[in-house]
Amino acid sequence: MKLRAATLEDLELLRRWDEQPHVIACDPNGDWGWEVELARSPTWREQLLAELDGRPIGFVQLIDPALKESHYWGDVGPNLRAIDIWIGEPGDLGRGFGTAIMQLVLARCFSDSAVEAVLIDPLANNTQAHRFYERLGFRFLEQLRFGEDDCFVYRLDRAN
Ligand SMILES: CC(C)(COP(=O)(O)OP(=O)(O)OC[C@H]1O[C@@H](n2cnc3c(N)ncnc32)[C@H](O)[C@@H]1OP(=O)(O)O)[C@@H](O)C(=O)NCCC(=O)NCCS
Repeated sequence: MKLRAATLEDLELLRRWDEQPHVIACDPNGDWGWEVELARSPTWREQLLAELDGRPIGFVQLIDPALKESHYWGDVGPNLRAIDIWIGEPGDLGRGFGTAIMQLVLARCFSDSAVEAVLIDPLANNTQAHRFYERLGFRFLEQLRFGEDDCFVYRLDRAN
């Protein structure tokens, strides 16, 4: 499994994945504005594709939640990262790919020695995702409402 930057050439793929029921279910109110967002690279964000032997498997966004322009995360402190992740094709769910991707993503986040912890905000009703993150070591922090979404915030601190 490898991570690479997502580009405008991935536009069709990401739009197709957006129509998958499991992707809609995890982010029913989201509009990712791919055409605009894939064309820019703000310093507080990385948009990545995970590829297995060259085949795109999933999408990952890493942000510095304190710097995100929309202030989605509110008054969050410095030295954190926040992650969004989904597997694209339904046939690729539940095969261990998400775990492999998260291991790469977490290593990437903590490779910056300033980063103290990683946050993630699955919907409150996404119990499969809660189990997935708990197995990776994330701990439930609080329930928050982001826009129209009721979310559980999970945190994984750097292992010293
Ligand atoms: C969450 C997700 C990235 C995990 O990746 P994955 O490759 O399916 O996970 P793995 O095979 O490594 O691990 C399996 C675990 O993933 C979790 N999982 C979450 N959603 C799942 C789904 N739709 N199908 C299967 N497993 C899912 C379960 O906890 C599962 O463990 P279980 O067998 O005990 O239920 C992936 O399932 C996914 O993209 N789900 C839909 C979108 C989503 O919910 N994204 C997270 C938003 S915060």
